[in-house]
Amino acid sequence: METTTTTILAIETSCDETSAAVVRAERPVGAGTRSGAPPRIEVLSNVVSSQVAVHAEFGGVVPEVASRAHLEMLEPVVGQALADAGLAFDPLGTGTGRRPAIDAVAATRGPGLIGALLVGVSSAKALALAWDVPYVGVNHMEGHLFATFLERPDIGLPLVVLLVSGGHTMIVKVDEPGRYRILGSTVDDAAGEAFDKVARYLGLGYPGGPIIDALSAEGDPAAIRFPRGMLDDGLDFSFSGMKTAVINYVRRHPDATNPDLAASFQEAVVDVLVTKVLRAAKRHRAAAVALGGGVAANSRLRQRFAQAAAEAGLDHLVPSRAYCTDNAAMIAAAAHWRLAHDGATGLDAGADPSLRLATI
Ligand code: KG4
Ligand code: ZN
Repeated sequence: METTTTTILAIETSCDETSAAVVRAERPVGAGTRSGAPPRIEVLSNVVSSQVAVHAEFGGVVPEVASRAHLEMLEPVVGQALADAGLAFDPLGTGTGRRPAIDAVAATRGPGLIGALLVGVSSAKALALAWDVPYVGVNHMEGHLFATFLERPDIGLPLVVLLVSGGHTMIVKVDEPGRYRILGSTVDDAAGEAFDKVARYLGLGYPGGPIIDALSAEGDPAAIRFPRGMLDDGLDFSFSGMKTAVINYVRRHPDATNPDLAASFQEAVVDVLVTKVLRAAKRHRAAAVALGGGVAANSRLRQRFAQAAAEAGLDHLVPSRAYCTDNAAMIAAAAHWRLAHDGATGLDAGADPSLRLATI
């Protein structure tokens, strides 16, 4: 079968990671672009520069500091991504007389921090103009969904994905790429936000998720029975009360140890997340389930999710940690599909900090 190859450079700067990736996709010539199958994708490079150290001294992401750090890091990160993919960084295509073999330039256009998004979006548009190739604006949450297809383009559909990050917590049903339904979401804090707030309260540092994850290994998850927010109610989540329960417990039990508090809080959050994603899969007759977003890097969530999915006899994916936290490879994967399906994004489409996932 005759195939056509497209290579996309994607940029991700929605929050506190500066990332660039070069991703190649192959698809049959003449295949209907409405076909449901996700493209077969090869990640040629995926460079992520984390700003965690820059924000740690403030105890959280400071938007102005993030924008400035993206400005400083973007050019070296893009240069490294092109070099790792065996391509030269030649912004104006003049040095070698040829522009790099890139067919489109993509960037996350929302949701996220507006100043941070603008750095990636403006740079991607500038490169697209200089190289005379299409620009593709990508929804960050659609990027997290496409992380699944990077590793499992053959995963069963409909697919139910638990997307858990610092800014979002939702259960999404993916009938096929581009056809999404949000089955549940948080009514207050995002799951990652709850990890970060509890860690801050316990004086453990920032970002809280990985710290609580590591500390939990030394604690007893059954030491304290924290409430499981909205466990019996449908598919929505509430984490704010669980965070308050930790604070109240520490006030009443000043001798409670951090490892026990961390392990018990993590267990409560994981209990709710795993119960609800499997409930959603069953209720909506999913063929497969997957995790996505930064909190999907959590060891206990990965372990309990895999076990529960296997027990339910469901095809499932626990993605590599590098594809859970923010990265440009997932943005490139979504951009490949969007470019084939919708064509290029107009250069007049700006960054949108509250961009919503297009649902059916
Ligand atoms: O997806 P992401 O990198 O950025 C957003 O789009 O928000 O997610 C970041 C969030 C933070 O709240 C961080 O604490 C959490 O993911 N996180 C974790 C772990 N690693 C990152 N939460 C729990 N356990 C982890 N191992
Ligand atoms: Zn994210």
